[in-house]
Amino acid sequence: MDRNLALEIIRVTEAAALASAQWVGRGSHHDADRAATEAMRRTLDSIPFKGTVVIGEGERDEAPMLYIGEEVGGSASPEVDIAVDPLECTNSVAYGRPNALAVIAIAPKGHLLHAPDCYMEKIAVGPKAADAIDLDQSPEENIGRVAEALGLKISNLTVVILDRERHQELIERVRKTGARIHLIPDGDVSSAIAAALPDTGVDLLLGIGGAPEGVLAAAALRCIGGAMQGRLVFRNKEEIERAMKMGIDDIQKVFKIDELASGDGIMFAATGVTDGDLLKGVVFHPGGAITQSLVLRQSSGTRRFIRAEHHFDSKPVY
Ligand code: FBP
Repeated sequence: MDRNLALEIIRVTEAAALASAQWVGRGSHHDADRAATEAMRRTLDSIPFKGTVVIGEGERDEAPMLYIGEEVGGSASPEVDIAVDPLECTNSVAYGRPNALAVIAIAPKGHLLHAPDCYMEKIAVGPKAADAIDLDQSPEENIGRVAEALGLKISNLTVVILDRERHQELIERVRKTGARIHLIPDGDVSSAIAAALPDTGVDLLLGIGGAPEGVLAAAALRCIGGAMQGRLVFRNKEEIERAMKMGIDDIQKVFKIDELASGDGIMFAATGVTDGDLLKGVVFHPGGAITQSLVLRQSSGTRRFIRAEHHFDSKPVY
């Protein structure tokens, strides 16, 4: 795939971030999400590829745009699969909380898991601890192995966990190991990536979050050389039936990172909407705004943190 695509897709996440950032703290997650989705959809048609949305805003009958199966892009080739979350952490934007991102991952056709919209139990780390994780082992075992792989005392290892009622037991067990905990209100895509990058202050992601978010994080971690595993978690029979319809036969399977996002040619871009573990959020100034984005390319391993100054008088769309 043309390497320039990596730098093209950042325009898609920048547009979504700039549009949704206008809604920070205004209490409407619906408006924030709509603004991000419309901006992302519009910008995708200027990118020179033929993309099929495999992870998006929902099924065709429930989402007006960026629905699963929708074709986007401004060219007949290359043909790619696209996973998007125009606004990861809609509530964080609505209530002015951290970790909101606009996110896209692209891969050659057939290389991103078509994850159903259910939960996923996740574990994620950076390259040094890639061989240390095993979702079939206990949290205590994984913490010990990851600390050893990173050359850290357990008391200096930081585990990032979504602050949810369902994680009470996990949090207690992690505390008993002596590890540090960074609880996040939302946003495990941002935190999974942060756990895989050096000097972010978090070393290991544990816990249950969204399955589509798991595929997006896995795509980013494939570019970084980190590791992630995920097991789908179902709340009811309907979710199981839906997963099976989407081709998942073994509902207890532990998906390794290269089953979540496989092959070569993965590219990933994210732009911060509100400040988070990974990226700074949008900052408005008279006549424009500043964004911070991360662009990753798997085949070269290049990680670009891009600070962009946008001038609204020359971008009438804003
Ligand atoms: P949304 O933007 O879809 O609300 O996702 C935010 C998020 O925190 C994700 O990062 C995470 O994977 C998921 O929600 C967890 O789901 P829940 O809020 O139901 O625990």
